Amino acid sequence: MTYNASTAEEKLDIIDLPRLRALVESRTEAGAFGYVDGGSSDEQVLQDNETAFRHYQLIPRMLQNIAEPDMTTTLFDIPLGMPIIAAPIAAQGLMHEGGESVTVKGVGAAKSIFSASTYGNASVAAVAEASPETPKFFQLYMSRDDEFNQFLINQAVETGYKAIILTADSTLGGYREADIINNFEFPLPMDNLAAFSNATGTGEGLSIAEIYARAKQDLALSDIKKIKDMASGLPVIVKGIQDPEDALAAIAGGADGIWVSNHGGRELNGAPASIDVLADIAKTVNHRVPIIFDSGIRWGEDIAKAIALGADVVALGRPMLWALNLGGAAGVQSAFEHLAEELKIVMQLTGSHTVAELKHAKIIEAKF
Ligand code: LAC
Repeated sequence: MTYNASTAEEKLDIIDLPRLRALVESRTEAGAFGYVDGGSSDEQVLQDNETAFRHYQLIPRMLQNIAEPDMTTTLFDIPLGMPIIAAPIAAQGLMHEGGESVTVKGVGAAKSIFSASTYGNASVAAVAEASPETPKFFQLYMSRDDEFNQFLINQAVETGYKAIILTADSTLGGYREADIINNFEFPLPMDNLAAFSNATGTGEGLSIAEIYARAKQDLALSDIKKIKDMASGLPVIVKGIQDPEDALAAIAGGADGIWVSNHGGRELNGAPASIDVLADIAKTVNHRVPIIFDSGIRWGEDIAKAIALGADVVALGRPMLWALNLGGAAGVQSAFEHLAEELKIVMQLTGSHTVAELKHAKIIEAKF
């Protein structure tokens, strides 16, 4: 297969992140754009993820003596320039010729954390080599083949990754109409699959349903402990939590972090927006472990709302890939820095000197 991806490498002058989407659509093959952009079924959850932020309103605060909000924070003792990290996303070669090896550089330049997916086009080791200094997490789609799981986790440990993200919400994909309409098959190999000798295929020429079909379907609580044992002491974050009971069970099962996400509206349609389940989960978790939030973050105020409702940091998904497509590493850096600029304004206007104070910003449910 031939696939012509973007080779852009430039800083972006961003008005706001949602405006980038149409530019990317106009220059990307329909199948690739549809795969990245699409949600499941009629995309109710995908849309609600963005609009449900309107259910919450931040109260402006006055006379709070703030000249320069401090945007820095930490996650698992990793210093961050802003409370925003990269969500793990598969097949970033669809959006840029250099794929994950380019994204990781932009994320590092923004003083953030990159999350490498099992289904990345670049391997765990290649991503580390592209940007050794960027802090990195490895997102495992657990395979039914433990040799494969251990092979990838070993690479992550050996190349300095700081945590394992165990994705719990996608043992199979949601009903993704765009992929069916476009008959989408991955045009590029996924190097983690390609590097494993027992792998049946590299991902190239396969649909996402075929790829998921090789993952462990009967993922269970006991797998958290199993991954922890394989990961030589690295923290294990369980991703895809939408229910307080599941958060509690995951922590009891050994989770060192909870990642609240509905996979960007790509899995169970008919579910709530991710932001609408955050506060109850955060209350239940009660600061025992850090909470990462994603699904629908587009604006600085979305970040402030997520943090005020109980997240420690948020993760950026599709908008990061739009910026990758339009500007490569410099573009990704621009997107993170733009969001941080928006967040800085929101922090100042809500009387939050620090990210820790933002957690206590006044937030109410909208009355309309
Ligand atoms: C997705 C996975 C692979 O397609 O993250 O949603």
